[in-house]
Amino acid sequence: MRMILLGPPGVGKGTQAMRLTKHFNIPQIAPGDLLRTAIKSGTKLGIAAKKFMDKGELVPDEVILGMVEEVSQSGECKNGFIFDGFPRTIPQAEGLADILAKSQTTLDVVVNIDADFAEIIHRLSSRRACIECGATYNLIFSPPKTEGKCDSCNSALIQREDDKEETVQNRLKVYENQTAPLIEFYQNLGLLKIADGSGGIDEVQQNILSVLGEK
Ligand code: AP5
Ligand code: MG
Ligand code: ZN
Repeated sequence: MRMILLGPPGVGKGTQAMRLTKHFNIPQIAPGDLLRTAIKSGTKLGIAAKKFMDKGELVPDEVILGMVEEVSQSGECKNGFIFDGFPRTIPQAEGLADILAKSQTTLDVVVNIDADFAEIIHRLSSRRACIECGATYNLIFSPPKTEGKCDSCNSALIQREDDKEETVQNRLKVYENQTAPLIEFYQNLGLLKIADGSGGIDEVQQNILSVLGEK
């Protein structure tokens, strides 16, 4: 299965991608996660990317495409993949098509997870992430077993810098201007499926599996 999870910031791409990797036994490739790891390690790429991310702006296309090409050449994706948060612009989608063509593959499906902005702002304001392993929690919808601690590694949970309200507003604006056009782009290629993302986490998973013909 070679698929893209499309959708606005905070709609649940990461949450669902993690579940789908188990269902299909293929890796989740999330440039946002790779960039946060780079920031934590203090690499040049991380330092440069942080300036964009903290403001809720997109990191330049060539940086993201370089990262994706590297992953694709590593062989990690040879049995399939789930892209989470990529592509995010038309040039990235075109770049991805070129990268896949080099390894003589194409996409199977693009799933757009849909929810309204009010629900998204509600989810993002209560999201917390583990500083160590990056696991995601939600104070309201999926709290950790012990307050402020990661279930899997017991490290501290923090709010992402870009989940502050002002930055969330900008991320939604950037999404509308630069990422939403991908819905029509993939619809025109006959690859688009739409999954309702407004319900609970299990319900959304069922919706996605159902549009994929799995349930
Ligand atoms: P990235 O890390 O990709 O962030 P994003 O797309 O803004 O998405 P999020 O991770 O915020 O949300 P999500 O959809 O994964 O939701 P989640 O599952 O966590 O990107 C960050 C930044 O990196 C970008 O702004 C940009 O600067 C840069 N970047 C990344 N990719 C790039 C690219 N391709 N090009 C250029 N720049 C790029 O869920 C959110 C919360 O809701 C959680 O607390 C979760 O527990 C909860 N939740 C999830 N589902 C449900 C549900 N059904 N009901 C209730 N709560 C739920
Ligand atoms: Mg995410
Ligand atoms: Zn952890």
